[in-house]
Amino acid sequence: MASVMFLILAILLCSRTSGATSRGGGLFEASAVEKHEQWMSRFHRVYAHDAEKASRFEIFKKNLKFVESFNMNTNKTYKLDVNKFSDLTDEEFKARYMGMVVPEGMTGKSQETVSFRYENVSETGESKDWRQEGAVTPIKDQGQCGCCWAFAAVAAVEAVTKIANGELVSLSEQQLLDCSIGDNNMGCDGGSSLTAYDYIKDNQGITREENYPYQASQQTCQTTVPAAATIRGYEAVPKDDEEALLKAVSQQPVSVGIVGSGDAFKHYSSGIFEDEGCGTDSHHAVTIVGYGTSEEGIKYWLLKNSWGESWGENGYMRIKRDVNEPQGMCGLAHRAYYPVA
Ligand SMILES: *[C@@H]1O[C@H](CO)[C@@H](O)[C@H](O)[C@H]1NC(C)=O
Ligand SMILES: *[C@@H]1O[C@H](CO)[C@@H](O)[C@H](O)[C@H]1NC(C)=O
Repeated sequence: MASVMFLILAILLCSRTSGATSRGGGLFEASAVEKHEQWMSRFHRVYAHDAEKASRFEIFKKNLKFVESFNMNTNKTYKLDVNKFSDLTDEEFKARYMGMVVPEGMTGKSQETVSFRYENVSETGESKDWRQEGAVTPIKDQGQCGCCWAFAAVAAVEAVTKIANGELVSLSEQQLLDCSIGDNNMGCDGGSSLTAYDYIKDNQGITREENYPYQASQQTCQTTVPAAATIRGYEAVPKDDEEALLKAVSQQPVSVGIVGSGDAFKHYSSGIFEDEGCGTDSHHAVTIVGYGTSEEGIKYWLLKNSWGESWGENGYMRIKRDVNEPQGMCGLAHRAYYPVA
């Protein structure tokens, strides 16, 4: 099929984090030094030399300040914490932990022409958690490789396979990283979950994680691995429509593009995330694996991320649902796709 693709590559416009931060007083400096030491041992960070340590400390301090002043605002529905990203510049963070390439104006394939199969779903219930249905594998960690696109696709395929066949099998992101190349997919430098779905379909399957374990870097494609799951393709959830997204997620987990590069998103620790300023320029991909309403009455989506268990709520984020903007919080309803078993 003719796919007209116009790639908007992840052009990173952010500037390096300035080393010059305001003098917050000697006390903050002293406690920041101590916190940096504690943080280094918690995240097993070792610096090559004092100069690197000094420049990393400046970045850490800026992030620490951001996190601490954010958490002082009791009006927020979520908390932040320093984490393994806290000594990275924005540039480094985006290059290593994002990685969704957006195929703009993509036509063809099945998605736009086919009617939305879940349009007539009437019972979505108050909440859904696909983890409780046994359709979600443990949190994975993409490491320093921008292949969120592979993790987001795999989580959705793992779930739809479990829903169709009754068995949950952890599937191989590395196979996609090595073999789903060309088109939009550039390995650790970014890619599209849609190209990954097409690969799984065209290859007639994807293998088990244990057959083809994750290396966090692109290797030569192994072609002799046995398939453990396959899909017939993928479809789009109608754009900018959280109600349609709800219908879809009530039936199966859905991979979505999201803006994940903001300081708050990066340092999210717990609660219901919202960031009115995060925009729609998504370069990250995650999988929506549920929804619900918090004790405070805030509706949320449950996202499975691929940044390990130390980020967020054991690797997950709850993010505000049913917002005023049609594209959803941080653009999550703009590019939502689900694989078809
Ligand atoms: C606190 O939240 C309320 C309701 O969202 C808002 O109207 C108010 O401006 C907020 N106050 C501060 C200090 O952020
Ligand atoms: C939804 O219902 C309408 C009206 O009955 C029908 O025309 C349409 O084909 C249905 N959509 C799907 C995807 O089944």
